Amino acid sequence: MDEQLDRIMSEDAGRLLGGGSWREIVLALDEGIHIVDQQARTILYNHSAGRMDGLRPEEVLDRSIFEVFPSLTFENSTLMQTLKSGKEVSQSQQTFVNMKGEQITTVNKTVPVIFSGGSRGAMEISRDITLIQELAENISSLRNRFSSERSAETSATGSQETKSRFKSNNTSYTFADLVGENREFKKVMNDAVRAAGSDSSVLIIGETGTGKELFAQGIHNASSRAAQPFIAQNCAALPRELLESLLFGAEKGSFTGAATRPGLFEQASGGTILLDEINSLDYDLQAKLLRVLQEGKVRRVGGQQEKEVDVRVLATMNQPPEEAFAAGSLRQDLFYRLSVICLSLPPLRRRRDDIPLLLDHFFELYNSRFNRRLEGITAQLKRALLKYDWPGNVRELQHMIECGFNLVSQERRIGLDSLPLHQREKLSNLKEASSNNLAAPLLQGEIPELESYLAQVEKKMIIRALNQSGGNKTDAGKMLGISRQSLQYKLKKYHLE
Ligand SMILES: Nc1ncnc2c1ncn2[C@@H]1O[C@H](COP(=O)(O)OP(=O)(O)OP(=O)(O)O)[C@@H](O)[C@H]1O
Ligand SMILES: [Mg+2]
Repeated sequence: MDEQLDRIMSEDAGRLLGGGSWREIVLALDEGIHIVDQQARTILYNHSAGRMDGLRPEEVLDRSIFEVFPSLTFENSTLMQTLKSGKEVSQSQQTFVNMKGEQITTVNKTVPVIFSGGSRGAMEISRDITLIQELAENISSLRNRFSSERSAETSATGSQETKSRFKSNNTSYTFADLVGENREFKKVMNDAVRAAGSDSSVLIIGETGTGKELFAQGIHNASSRAAQPFIAQNCAALPRELLESLLFGAEKGSFTGAATRPGLFEQASGGTILLDEINSLDYDLQAKLLRVLQEGKVRRVGGQQEKEVDVRVLATMNQPPEEAFAAGSLRQDLFYRLSVICLSLPPLRRRRDDIPLLLDHFFELYNSRFNRRLEGITAQLKRALLKYDWPGNVRELQHMIECGFNLVSQERRIGLDSLPLHQREKLSNLKEASSNNLAAPLLQGEIPELESYLAQVEKKMIIRALNQSGGNKTDAGKMLGISRQSLQYKLKKYHLE
């Protein structure tokens, strides 16, 4: 047998791994590996495969698979299908009761192999996702229970209070919670308000902490679907199989023994589903999602029938689409289908003029939450905040203020001293880096709104020229190559007077 096995490894692999050590690796893998020869006789069967099937390798090795697994037929055995066709078979999910009577769910892939003598075989690679499957069911039922408890709570407390009205649909924000007067931000807000009036998909693009979730909830709550559920699902955090059965549901069927359970699409019926970090969704699942969007129907994993669903889809991503295409993480067809309306949220460093407003907003919030009466921040801290680049955007600002509220003692204002060391350090070391930048640095591939970006550059150039001319407008105008009147006009425009 060893001889035969040695021959299914490439010469390179054999050389690299050394005498027989590759075999130990295969035997130690968490994935189940099952290799048969052309007569469907098992020539390799590792411990993981045995664990899943409830068998010991010696019960399987050197025997025909039909002898060991009596329920297998020529037609339903994927190893046989691959032997016959010479083609790979991918089976998304399979649930079965093993020889020990345990119910196991696996994801399998069967690939053809050619031994060096030219004879053919097949290899099945299986991943045990039984625990993941159970987790999916637990998450799903917890989500349902949580949602119905919330509804009960809301109807018990009455619906006079705005917040509690929204709690019943799983959200806590409306457009009114979005703070910002910056031009670029206002423009996106207006687009979002318009989007709320339509039923098209919306793609919200923005760096972390720019308010994507707030915009999504705002759109849902201002839409005709507001009374229906809002369900958000992060696409990055979960393995593909779990996400697939969470999104589309699972059906107790011939293959999947998992409990019959509707997916999030069905649960969000009549409402909105938010797919967070869509560019992290498994590439194949993106194709399945595209079909659901195009046809308005879902089919549960392991199910036969398609069910119509009326769900509005919102999606978010935190990198520019071109980057996601280049990285191969986002299907272009899905992107075009999702971005019927596309909202691009500006990072905080491109709307620094909103920092004072946001500070007021968070002071109001935390004064009430901490039962304090702090007046604001010191002038020194404000200067630093206006210069800082805010990689974590509004969330970072909010956390910084919350930190300050926790650490400030007698003072009425939060200063650099009331911030933890790591925050103090990043705010104290800004000086030159930021003042030398004429405009906020851009992410690779990021395209800002041209007018507002150029305005930032213009404003900084004017300030620099005025500083160098000691405030003399004629000289500053000369340096910039514009007339005094023109400079005067720009000073007014940018409130620099
Ligand atoms: N315009 C805004 N006005 C008020 N608060 C805001 C605004 N934008 C963001 N926030 C605050 O910042 C926090 C982060 O926002 P949100 O969760 O929407 O970010 P996100 O873009 O979804 O980030 P991530 O990509 O990390 O999920 C929110 O809890 C909210 O309090
Ligand atoms: Mg988010």
